[in-house]
Amino acid sequence: MGRLAIIFGPPGSGKGTQSRLVSDSLDFCHLSTGDMLREASNIGSDLGLKARELMDSGNLVPDDMVNGIVAAHIHGLDGKKDVLLDGYPRTMEQAYALDRSLMGTQYNVNVVLSLTVRDSVLKERILNRKVCTSCGSIFGVPVSVLEPCGNCGGKLVVRGDDNLEALSDRLQVYRERTLPILNFYSDRGLVVVIDAERPVPEIFSSISKELSKFY
Ligand code: AP5
Repeated sequence: MGRLAIIFGPPGSGKGTQSRLVSDSLDFCHLSTGDMLREASNIGSDLGLKARELMDSGNLVPDDMVNGIVAAHIHGLDGKKDVLLDGYPRTMEQAYALDRSLMGTQYNVNVVLSLTVRDSVLKERILNRKVCTSCGSIFGVPVSVLEPCGNCGGKLVVRGDDNLEALSDRLQVYRERTLPILNFYSDRGLVVVIDAERPVPEIFSSISKELSKFY
């Protein structure tokens, strides 16, 4: 039976950064709905083009656009791999849908890792972020978008939703639609709060410790 963890937190709290470490070092399957939607948008699929406009304006895509994709991935893993969900669930309806899609699988939600970061820090991180279009590496230093990726030489870009206007909408959507999920999982005793203003390796060490409790 595989482990299933949710990494939870506001935009810029470091979910993607930590998820890549968990996937590379602990061999978890990292399922990021944001990455899946950006990929769909980059290849120009119908779903991707619909999603792009909503994402760039800081809104959520409709629940049914992501519920089916996540369920299909989880079913495909057949309990054989540990799973880290990043950016999902993001609404109460998605949390209920996740419960339904886990029924009859080898997975339960083992832990919700809730990353906490102050808004002022989130803002600074989001406005400094560059991502590699080839390998997906995330950079937090104010490197130039013209510089190649330090990991693979690919092109670095600024995400379409990494600007002050979209960030303010993303934070509002997070508070109104996503934060209530924490109570849902707290009532089940699944939430672990992680101070995510520390250096990346320290946060990763806390996360690894929590995940190791669920062998
Ligand atoms: P998504 O891609 O999930 O974005 P998000 O939740 O807004 O989170 P971010 O990717 O912005 O931040 P992060 O927490 O991953 O931080 P990161 O590690 O990059 O979703 C994007 C959009 O897709 C949504 O707005 C929505 O439209 C749509 N969507 C996705 N899922 C959906 C769903 N389930 N339902 C409906 N719609 C959905 O780090 C940020 C920066 O900080 C980086 O530069 C990084 O280098 C730096 N950094 C990280 N950790 C540290 C640290 N400890 N110290 C210093 N700097 C750090």
